[in-house]
Amino acid sequence: MILVTGGAGFIGSNFVHVWLKAAGEPVLNLDKVTYAGNLENLADLRGDQRHFFVRGDIGDRVLTSALLAEHRPRAVINFAAESHVDRSIHGPADFIQTNVLGTFQLLESVRAYWKGLSVDGQRSFRFVHVSTDEVYGSLTPTEPPFAETNAYKPNSPYAASKAASDHLVRAWFRTYGLPVLTTNCSNNYGPFHFPEKLIPLVIFNALSGRPLPIYGDGQQVREWLYVEDHCRAIMRVLEAGRLGDVYNIGGCNERPNLDVVETICAILDDLRPRGDGKRYREQIAFVKDRPGHDRRYAIDAGKIKRDLGWAPHETFESGIRKTVQWYLDNEAWVRNVTSGVYRNWVSDHYGA
Ligand code: NAD
Ligand code: TYD
Repeated sequence: MILVTGGAGFIGSNFVHVWLKAAGEPVLNLDKVTYAGNLENLADLRGDQRHFFVRGDIGDRVLTSALLAEHRPRAVINFAAESHVDRSIHGPADFIQTNVLGTFQLLESVRAYWKGLSVDGQRSFRFVHVSTDEVYGSLTPTEPPFAETNAYKPNSPYAASKAASDHLVRAWFRTYGLPVLTTNCSNNYGPFHFPEKLIPLVIFNALSGRPLPIYGDGQQVREWLYVEDHCRAIMRVLEAGRLGDVYNIGGCNERPNLDVVETICAILDDLRPRGDGKRYREQIAFVKDRPGHDRRYAIDAGKIKRDLGWAPHETFESGIRKTVQWYLDNEAWVRNVTSGVYRNWVSDHYGA
């Protein structure tokens, strides 16, 4: 079996689904269920004997040691993290706690477990650390996309905490020989995406008749990857990645934020036209920019394509349409995650 951390979150829960469909090998899913974790993301796995869910913290070494000893996974995929840049600006402490200290504690538990495996068990064991392109900082419009050899220049507390965790993972390979792999991926989108992030927020606000907040001039560029393509890339890295290596993952889909929002509005005009005959783009509202806002991210995914034969299945056009359709088909899911804590976040962050 494999141990997945953070498997009740956006990418982790998609990964568990993709994994069980493709491989069938059991998954032990360890998640703290913070505001971002949602057991409804895993609702259709209730009763599935291949999925074991445990609520707990990656920073709890007693717990993770006991789970490793009991379930004896052949690999750990570490998704668990605090992941929202704006929240990291409001309050960075949780980001240092989970992303830096939590990763450290997990690495130590895994190292002790790995040392106790047979020679064959040690050789085949893998620790995959899931990270972000934001560790590389911001690009100018003409700079080449991020390669694995780029220097780390994180700008937000989130990016800095992920960069720190990547460095720990690298050091545990060089110093202790722990068989690690790190992936740095661009922005994901798709089902189960918590509506504090741009794409689900815009879909949710559009349908509820609220403003669609665009930071600054909306010309910041992100590269978007459909979440299941990211999950398939992680599976390839687990299967065939070179130990100690880093793989950048991206969809070759650079877009300014304003374009992304206008695309979503056009799809909604088509799939669920507004009752008053107006267009959703009329809800767009330019708001104060994010402090230290990175201007552009772009990924050179040449290495994973060349060495591991991975390529995304979805274009941005096909993936974003599927995503909008998913939110239209799952309004109950959205309603449930947008209560309570979420509403407080929206009023704290966006004000009136
Ligand atoms: P998310 O915020 O949706 O989910 C994170 C999950 O981790 C939640 O279920 C949460 O409950 C859990 N968690 C948080 N702290 C924990 C702890 N201390 N112990 C155990 N579980 C804990 O995040 P996501 O978007 O699914 O991102 C998953 C990973 O992928 C993160 O490491 C993130 O840095 C990375 N990543 C995300 C993106 C993206 O676009 N979302 C892109 C590249 C990389
Ligand atoms: P986000 O989804 O938070 O991802 P990240 O900051 O990790 O890239 O934001 C994507 C882009 O959208 C980013 O440039 C910030 C911008 N953005 C807005 O313009 N308005 C919003 O309300 C949000 C949440 C994000």
